[in-house]
Amino acid sequence: PTKLRVSEAISGAELGANIKVQGWVRSVRPQKTNLFLNVNDGSSLQSLQIVATSELNDPLLTFGSAVEVTGTLKKSPHQKQTVELQAEQIHVIGECNPVDFPFKIKERHGLEYIRQFPHLRCRTNVFSSLLRIRSEATSAIHSYFKENGFVQINTPVITSNDCEGAGELFQVEPPSPENKEDQNFFSVPAFLTVSGQLHLEAMSGAFSKVYTFGPTFRAENSQSRRHLAEFYMVEAEVSFTQSLEDLTKVMEDMFRSATEQILAHCAEDVDLFHKHVTPGHRDTIDATLKRKFPMITYSEAIDILNRSSEKFAFPTDWGCDLQKEHEKYLVKHCGNIPVFVTDYPYDLKPFYARDNQDRPNHTAAAVDLLVPGVGELCGGSLREERLDLLRARLEELGLEDTYSWYLDLRSFGSVPHGGFGLGFERYLQCILGVDNIKDVIPFPRFSHSCLL
Ligand code: 4AD
Ligand code: MG
Repeated sequence: PTKLRVSEAISGAELGANIKVQGWVRSVRPQKTNLFLNVNDGSSLQSLQIVATSELNDPLLTFGSAVEVTGTLKKSPHQKQTVELQAEQIHVIGECNPVDFPFKIKERHGLEYIRQFPHLRCRTNVFSSLLRIRSEATSAIHSYFKENGFVQINTPVITSNDCEGAGELFQVEPPSPENKEDQNFFSVPAFLTVSGQLHLEAMSGAFSKVYTFGPTFRAENSQSRRHLAEFYMVEAEVSFTQSLEDLTKVMEDMFRSATEQILAHCAEDVDLFHKHVTPGHRDTIDATLKRKFPMITYSEAIDILNRSSEKFAFPTDWGCDLQKEHEKYLVKHCGNIPVFVTDYPYDLKPFYARDNQDRPNHTAAAVDLLVPGVGELCGGSLREERLDLLRARLEELGLEDTYSWYLDLRSFGSVPHGGFGLGFERYLQCILGVDNIKDVIPFPRFSHSCLL
């Protein structure tokens, strides 16, 4: 027999072929003379129907058990599937006690329930769909950058800088042996990266267009539905960028191109979400893809919030940081599609943001992309490329020595440039409508939780 993946057996193989499939049992239906099984191996959402005579039944054939089935592929007389496997041999490779197995046959378990079993939840349809979509989304993002002439850079996970200056660093240090406590492995304090931006900026000075896609870490004490301690970020940096519009064009193009690829390549898996998990969300995505994303300034956003009749828990004076409630309101106000907010108060942004040199409301050329359901999806800015202004700001912050290498970038062939970072898990939440960020990453890490 030819060994096939279940998806190949269902859509590619010839009728009459003698084949072997391996997978996990998703349903068992013994009848008078026949036994029906559904077997899934994760190659797609679909399971292959196995038909066997009752002699092949085995009490170990239970929901969740691992099996190998050999037989002949036949046209199925049932409407639900085009083919089925007439089994000649069924071998139980691994038993699964249905009493102890946390998932039950024929039950549609909710995301919250399956979250309790991070090592097993990939055995459910919903989470295996999610992870196939996540895999496709990763490829889609790489494809966008490849097709658009970006060079991929592996920025370091261990670094000595705090790019965002927000003090959310995890420090990295091997456990120190007794009496050697003053020995410091890297000789300087080292941290898990919060963003690859600064390293990417260095590279943009040679390749013009660069990106990185990797894990980033933040010691956020927040128990929110959109924060993790370890998350993946897609970051791009583009040289010779004159305006925020140059940057928002890349952000919007990437969003569209990746989303269209995911919808096209993962239709079945995406449908599972849009039909059964987050009904109604498909309309939001369709509306998002149809319209150009509006762009408003921070000052306009503040006006909109102040004119609204909504009672916000946080203040909305000019100069305040936008909170999730404000972001949600702005997205609704703009038609429930993604919206760019630009030109934030200078004092709210990290040292690298380009000074707009405007008064009295002093702003930086920074931009966030806010999306339905999630709020902030991307943060970006033009970078301060003018040596004198950047040096003055770093001196003000007492950081000129730490960032002397970064100042060098402005001394040797400095060009106007800008970039952004997109939170990959928030992107998945956005396209699927998933409320909790812990449900879009295989093994979530957050405060007080590092299971497995
Ligand atoms: O807005 P942030 O902090 O921007 C930066 O780090 C820039 N240096 C990126 C750049 O310009 N290259 O983070 C970027 C995005 C946020 O908009 C958000 O989507 C996501 O990263 N993010 C998180 N996602 C999950 N959990 C967290 N704790 C996150 N913090 C930020
Ligand atoms: Mg941000």
